[in-house]
Amino acid sequence: MQKEMIIVLDFGGQYNQLIARRVRECNVYAEVHPYTLSLDKIKAMNPKGIIFTGGPNSVYDETSPTYDKEILNIGVPILGICYGSQLMAHLLGAKVKTAPVSEYGYTETIVDQTSVLFKDVEEKTITWMSHTDYIAETPEGFVGTAHTEACPIAAMECPDRKLYATQFHPEVMHTKEGQKMLRNFVYDVCGCAGDWQMGSFVEETIKSIREKVGDGKVLCALSGGVDSSVAAVLLSKAIGKQLTCVFVDHGLLRKNEGDEVEAVFGPEGPYELNFIRVNAQERYYEKLKGVTEPEQKRKIIGEEFIRVFEEEAKKIGAVDYLVQGTIYPDVIESGLGKSAVIKSHHNVGGLPDVVDFKEIIEPLRMLFKDEVRKAGLELGIPEYLVYRQPFPGPGLGIRIIGEVTAEKVRIVQDADAIYREEIAKAGLDKGLGQYFAGLTNMRSVGVMGDFRTYDYAVALRAVNTSDFMTAECAEIPYDVLFKVTTRIINEVKGVNRVMYDLTSKPPGTIEFE
Ligand code: XMP
Repeated sequence: MQKEMIIVLDFGGQYNQLIARRVRECNVYAEVHPYTLSLDKIKAMNPKGIIFTGGPNSVYDETSPTYDKEILNIGVPILGICYGSQLMAHLLGAKVKTAPVSEYGYTETIVDQTSVLFKDVEEKTITWMSHTDYIAETPEGFVGTAHTEACPIAAMECPDRKLYATQFHPEVMHTKEGQKMLRNFVYDVCGCAGDWQMGSFVEETIKSIREKVGDGKVLCALSGGVDSSVAAVLLSKAIGKQLTCVFVDHGLLRKNEGDEVEAVFGPEGPYELNFIRVNAQERYYEKLKGVTEPEQKRKIIGEEFIRVFEEEAKKIGAVDYLVQGTIYPDVIESGLGKSAVIKSHHNVGGLPDVVDFKEIIEPLRMLFKDEVRKAGLELGIPEYLVYRQPFPGPGLGIRIIGEVTAEKVRIVQDADAIYREEIAKAGLDKGLGQYFAGLTNMRSVGVMGDFRTYDYAVALRAVNTSDFMTAECAEIPYDVLFKVTTRIINEVKGVNRVMYDLTSKPPGTIEFE
């Protein structure tokens, strides 16, 4: 059976994967493709609908991304969003120009409830706007179906041709009824049945990995974190013993974590994996000696990972593929989309230029963290592993501000273990997105038992988040913080001060570096 699919045609906006994700939340499969995908390829994919995304350009600039006008005539329903809506108008010969008033943020919008797109949407609703250009007139055969105070055509449509457009972004949470609008588009305009589940993603990914890999050998970079664990189990279901999982203990893991990972994925664990543990602590500390710049630290850690994997691959012999558990926020924040580089996540932007593998496979690259968790459950991975809080590939390396040393690692490991223990004891662990202790590079004067101390300050962090792209600082009861502080000061040598980080993301990031 041909699966239902919506193609999201990427014109360079920030929220493109989010559009695909929102469509998948409607149980319809969606894939993002660049606007350079040819019309023939689109037709061959037989989509139920197409969504043109937003983008930073002006459609009337000659160098701006555009598309063959014929796409509007192939009978496939199209929804244009923001830049995508303007592009639709422009391709149809209507005027798009700089708006007299730019709109940015929450905007009261009046919608025409008789439009299929706005079925069950309040007449006066809130949408998220972000534009300086606007559609000044509707193309022939179109009617305006929404407006705001500053934007006369906030939505338009030509139902006979199944063409729809919104100036606002239905995909972002700030558009109060945006999900309803997308649902109306995929069900009532595109006629989707909505039979896609995460289980289908798992099945199809397994099938396509089998086809790609054939009888080749594959090495999986396993950190024991949620993403790489899901990737490893997925791969092992696809190709069994053709897969070898390499777990690098880089000396930047949480306390006892190396042994815990080995217990689950090693020979004693429930999975029949070829599992290799590489103890590379000294090698990492040596490479990181004297390095303080965060991006440089990330790149060194990322490069060293690959070098270890290459060495292990040589020992196995004839390994073609390397698998990584990269997920979508890693890709976007490493600046591999068109957004600015926030951090080089070691499994994407932190990769060295030359890698001795035929190809890198990243089966989870288009998923968000909560989708990865759903895939993990589909694969039968136990809940306690699937819902573990995330731990970054560069590990404590990015929770120690400044130079990394074995001594600082010991301090963070001990402080973090106490923090986690107390959070669990207080029953708070399940309700938090991520929480950990980090080491500020600050030393300050204290007094302990009549003696002056000049020791490090540990920073505690806890955040709530659903997608890890944004996060709110979490409220930890004062008595828990107080207990953790007392224990850290008393039990962890080298620490005389504990602080709690109240910053959200943005403006902070979740990790310290
Ligand atoms: P930030 O600090 O960027 O973190 O707000 C967002 C989420 O991503 C995790 N993170 C990483 N994960 N490799 C990873 O696999 C990395 O280099 C990396 N950097 C950050 C972080 O723990 C948080 O969950």
